[in-house]
Amino acid sequence: MRVMVIGGGGREHAIIKRIRENPKVTELYALPGNGGIALDCECVPIGATDLERIAAFAVEKKIDYAVVTPDDPLVLGAVDLLESKGIPCFGPNKAAAIIEGSKAFSKDLMHRYGIPTAAYQTFHDPKDALEYVKTSPLPIVIKADGLALGKGVVIAETREQASEAVKSAMCDKKFGASGEVIVIEEFLTGPEVSVLAFTDGISIVPMVSSMDHKRALDHDEGLNTGGMGTIAPNPYYTPAIAEECMRTIFLPTVQAMNSEGRTFKGCLYFGLMLTPDGPKVIEYNCRFGDPETQVVLALLKSDLLSVMQAVTESRLGSEKVEFSKQCAACVIMASEGYPSSYKKGFEVQVPDDVKDHVLFAGVRSDNGMLLTSGGRVLGVTAVEDTLKDAIRTAYERTAKITFENAYYRKDIGERALKALEE
Ligand code: AMP
Ligand code: GLY
Repeated sequence: MRVMVIGGGGREHAIIKRIRENPKVTELYALPGNGGIALDCECVPIGATDLERIAAFAVEKKIDYAVVTPDDPLVLGAVDLLESKGIPCFGPNKAAAIIEGSKAFSKDLMHRYGIPTAAYQTFHDPKDALEYVKTSPLPIVIKADGLALGKGVVIAETREQASEAVKSAMCDKKFGASGEVIVIEEFLTGPEVSVLAFTDGISIVPMVSSMDHKRALDHDEGLNTGGMGTIAPNPYYTPAIAEECMRTIFLPTVQAMNSEGRTFKGCLYFGLMLTPDGPKVIEYNCRFGDPETQVVLALLKSDLLSVMQAVTESRLGSEKVEFSKQCAACVIMASEGYPSSYKKGFEVQVPDDVKDHVLFAGVRSDNGMLLTSGGRVLGVTAVEDTLKDAIRTAYERTAKITFENAYYRKDIGERALKALEE
């Protein structure tokens, strides 16, 4: 079977490592992949949003199955295009990917179908938004409608910050067309949980829960990043909360998308906040999370490709999807300065005994060497019987990897360990 994976980060590396375990896979390509992913499959220098070239490559290589992972090709309609060429895909079509592509859409969806989320208003005109933040409660949350590389959310503590955020999105077009419409919403509090779920539009099968660490610095300080580390399972996500989420959020979301004629097939990501009033949706993503995938797939016992195909073929309900009872941790090693400016081009040294536990993101290969090429360079994972041991092992492995200007948070999983003690 010839399989291709679209994307080139640590999440894609995790997916590729699991897909290649399936003995049916004879050829495996990453588009574009990266220098580290190239250790595990063939990388093809076609960008993840270059849809026409992706489709041409798939046809030329007679690809049997495509996994489209990042948000932008999904929102642009990569799955629709590949399917029109007869190539079965894992991932939602364009009509369904809007659940991530437009926050105004997802908020309206939740509102219409009674799915718990923060109270909100949508604005198309900066004048109205500026007027609104003059008297709104504080803090207040301002979100660009469209994709913004995870940077489109501002939590404003003061009125000045709020109007600044409105102006920079709507007037200065900081996020381009993505910020022409904004959502302003109520500030919620409580622990955050990420739940990725397989769904074929009929059944929904949540994966093991996880916890991301989005801020750049220890103790959740510094700027928001794509994610500096993860642990799974998330101790705040008890069986009772999981049951409540299934009833009030997961199933209603699948049904709502069906009712809208936008059946979602793929991995649906629920960013949840466990508020004093119960679990609420902070955001939906139409794809696997990064770096949540790195810990969640480390605990998946079933064969990933078989589960993905069951989703594509609308038979998820009869597919066994099992997770290990162990715990996983992933520490992201970044270039110092990320997510602002940083230097790159430094050689990455990974000793043999930790190689199997490294998922590469921002690296390129050059004459047999791996050089840093991005902000988030790689993730180091560990699976152990307890969370404490998983975190310890992940950090022991991390300490053995070297490159100039390497930076990583030292407190991944600390909050989760505290929650377990409470
Ligand atoms: P998002 O990109 O939508 O995941 O938002 C980024 C981060 O902002 C989330 O992980 C939350 O920590 C925070 N956030 C987003 N919306 C809210 C909200 N309504 N109340 C409090 N925090 C929020
Ligand atoms: N880790 C959050 C995301 O993938 O959006």
